[in-house]
Amino acid sequence: MFTKFNIANFELENRSVRSATATSTCQFSTGIPEQKFYEFYESLARGHVGLLIQENAFVASRGTFAPKQLGIHTDEMIQYHRKANEIMRAANDKIRICCQLTHAGPNGNADNKLQINEATAADFEEVVQQFKEAALRAKKAGYDCVQLHSGHTYLLSQTISDFYNKRTDEYRASDFKLLRGVLEAVRTVDIPVGVKLQCDDFIEGHSMNAASACKIISALKFDFVEVTGGGQGVAKYSTIRAGKDQYYYRHVIQALKAQNLLDKQPVIVTGGFENVEDAQMAFDDGVPLVGYSRKFLRNDQFLIDGDAKKCVRCNQCIGAVYKGQHAHCPISEREK
Ligand SMILES: Cc1cc2nc3c(=O)[nH]c(=O)nc-3n(C[C@H](O)[C@H](O)[C@H](O)COP(=O)(O)O)c2cc1C
Repeated sequence: MFTKFNIANFELENRSVRSATATSTCQFSTGIPEQKFYEFYESLARGHVGLLIQENAFVASRGTFAPKQLGIHTDEMIQYHRKANEIMRAANDKIRICCQLTHAGPNGNADNKLQINEATAADFEEVVQQFKEAALRAKKAGYDCVQLHSGHTYLLSQTISDFYNKRTDEYRASDFKLLRGVLEAVRTVDIPVGVKLQCDDFIEGHSMNAASACKIISALKFDFVEVTGGGQGVAKYSTIRAGKDQYYYRHVIQALKAQNLLDKQPVIVTGGFENVEDAQMAFDDGVPLVGYSRKFLRNDQFLIDGDAKKCVRCNQCIGAVYKGQHAHCPISEREK
C-alpha cells in the first residue's frame, strides 16, 4: 500500500486511490463550487492519498445527474478547478489529482436528457466534442489526468451494455463506438486519460459482464482502468452496496488476469474495501491500486491516523447527494 507507483508520466506517493465521490457542495445547477467544496478537498489532500479522483463533473448541462453537482461544461469553470488544484497541492505537494468527466445521459436529471436508443449520430458526435472540451479545461486547470466515467448506468456505460443499448446500428453495444470516440478525442488533448469502467451490470441474461469488460480493455488503450460495476433497479447488486460484502469485483480481476490484461495498463479496483488489510486481498491478486469511496467520507485521514473509525455501510452518505445535501457521514459528524 505504501509504496510508490507510476501512472503515465507521473508518480503516486502510494497505491491508495480515493475513488470519485460526489460531494454535493456546488451551487444548484451552475456547477460552481461553494466554499465547503474547497475545504473538503483540502482536508482530503492532507490525508496523503496517492491518487485523488475528484467527483463526477458534468461535461454538458444536458448530462447532469444531481442538483449540486460539479460542472466542467464551460470555460468559466476553469478558474474554480484551478483554485481547487492549488489548494490541494498546497496541502500536499505529492498529491496527484484526477478530474472525472461525466455525462449522465438517460440516468440524469436534465429535462432534455439524452436517450441512447433515440439519439442521432449528431447527438453522439456532440457528446464526443463535449468530453474533449472538458478534458482541455481539466488540463488548463492543472489536473494530472482525467477519467472518463463509463460506469454506474450513466451515458457511456449504458452504451456498452446490451441491457440498455438496443441499437442495431454502428452504435450497438458490442462495438462500444461512443466510448472509443470519446477516448480518441480526449487523446488529442495532451493529458493522461483513464476510465472508470462498468465491468458487470449484474443483470441476469445480459452480457455486460467480466467477459465484455475484457474485450473493451483489450481493444482500447487507456492510461489506467478503474474496475467498477453494479446498477439500479433490476441489477442484482447496486454500485454502492450496503452490508459487509468485500472486494466486489474479484471475479473481474480474475478474468483480466486469465487474459493477461492485468498488466496491460495500471488497474484500480474499487468497491467493498474498508481498510488497508482488506486491500491486501487485491494486492495479493496482482492489482497495483485500490480505491475507496465511503471510507474517505467516514475518515479522510485513515491512511495516516491508525484507522480506528469503521464505516458501517449504512449508505446515508449517498442518500444525502440525491437530496441536494452535501455528502457526509452522519456517524463521523456525531463523533465531533
Ligand atoms: C456519496 C457517494 C458519491 C459517489 N459519487 C461518485 C462519483 O461522483 N463518481 C463515481 O464514479 N462514483 C461515485 N460513487 C461510487 C464510488 O466511487 C464507489 O465506486 C462505490 O461507492 C464503491 O466503493 P466503496 O465500497 O469504497 O464505497 C459515489 C459513492 C458515494 C458513496
